[in-house]
Amino acid sequence: MVIAALQRARSGLLLLHPARTTRPGPPDMKAASINVHPSFVAAAPARKPIAAEADAMVRFEGIAKTYPAYRGKPGVKALQDIDIAIPRGSITGVIGRSGAGKSSLVRLINGLEKPTMGRVVVDGREISALAGRDLRLAQRSIGMIFQHFNLLSSRTAFDNIALPLEIAGWAKSDIELRVAELLALVGISDKHDRYPSELSGGQKQRVGIARALATCPSVLLSDEATSALDPQTTRAILDLLANINRELGVTIVLITHEMSVVRQLAKEVVVLDAGHVVEKGHVADIFTHPRYPITRSFLAEVTGDSLPVSLASRLVQEPAAGGQTVVRVHVRGAGAGDTLIARLARELGLDVSLLSARVDEIGGQHVGSLVLGIPGGEDAAARVLTWLSQYRFSAERLGYVA
Ligand SMILES: Nc1ncnc2c1ncn2[C@@H]1O[C@H](COP(=O)(O)OP(=O)(O)O)[C@@H](O)[C@H]1O
Ligand SMILES: [Mg+2]
Repeated sequence: MVIAALQRARSGLLLLHPARTTRPGPPDMKAASINVHPSFVAAAPARKPIAAEADAMVRFEGIAKTYPAYRGKPGVKALQDIDIAIPRGSITGVIGRSGAGKSSLVRLINGLEKPTMGRVVVDGREISALAGRDLRLAQRSIGMIFQHFNLLSSRTAFDNIALPLEIAGWAKSDIELRVAELLALVGISDKHDRYPSELSGGQKQRVGIARALATCPSVLLSDEATSALDPQTTRAILDLLANINRELGVTIVLITHEMSVVRQLAKEVVVLDAGHVVEKGHVADIFTHPRYPITRSFLAEVTGDSLPVSLASRLVQEPAAGGQTVVRVHVRGAGAGDTLIARLARELGLDVSLLSARVDEIGGQHVGSLVLGIPGGEDAAARVLTWLSQYRFSAERLGYVA
């Protein structure tokens, strides 16, 4: 649906993102000047020379953010020593527990907060140094969506999406065209005249996304935008964001406390803990070689490091005669765990059983764990553990079941 809307937009009158259209040079600008509000064209980001430095859409340089003491409450060091470059055109996940500093980080990107130390540079401009009108203009190229949508209940879907365009001084007829295009882009053209109270959570977030894209931003910030949605709606909204990133080239910064969101959408990830960046890089690298406990605990959500209740309740710490030793094997890499049980059975002559398994794909790599039941007492368990370590599987003994 997104693609169809975009194709219509490209072949027709409206240009969703002038900087991304394929037709180069003056004819394009002429078309844009006929159909698109001038402020829209002026806001198109200037192309920078191709260089590693210019590839960052958002750059944090030596950032610290401290909220001052207030009414007897002590000051809070929300962020410290933050140096991150968010690649242009990427979907970058920022994951951390509640209170880690994620929302403070996004509010620095759109200039709602000023850093206590350091600089925040967005698309080549130091947003942390801007104020007043300059800041408001820069903010038009940074869209934001929220967990609770932040729609105005007294305005229809159309009027909510139109709001940033009204503020930017667009003509009524331009607004009508642009909002219709945005409604189609997010797949809710039929909800044009609906009020937020008449929309489902997913539809409200689609209005939020359309509103955030109205002024043609180069960056879209999403602060827990799917945290209030059910898993199926979450998936649909994440798919929409992926399409927007791919088709419009908008850089997306995805703030979340949910590993599944990062896994589905992001290629880059920053892990925040207590105001510090503890890991950053490609999702596949970080989640296949997690170095910090916080990263491992997020990973456990996906790889199922917690045991099924029925198995956990049977697990004991002393071997029982005729029972099984329970061993967890971590599998990483394509196809890593596929033939494990068959090979164990063949090479060691043991009837190993599979008690639980969870393998998922993260950044194109298989990551997960298998929980095996090994009959034959300590001796057999020791042989299995030795065999596993020979093949470089990381494994641990969890206990025993009768
Ligand atoms: N406006 C504020 N004033 C004072 N403290 C704040 C403010 N906003 C956030 N904090 C504190 O900063 C820390 C980080 O908060 P936040 O950035 O909201 O984290 P997250 O989004 O990861 O939950 C928390 O300890 C929080 O209480
Ligand atoms: Mg937050």
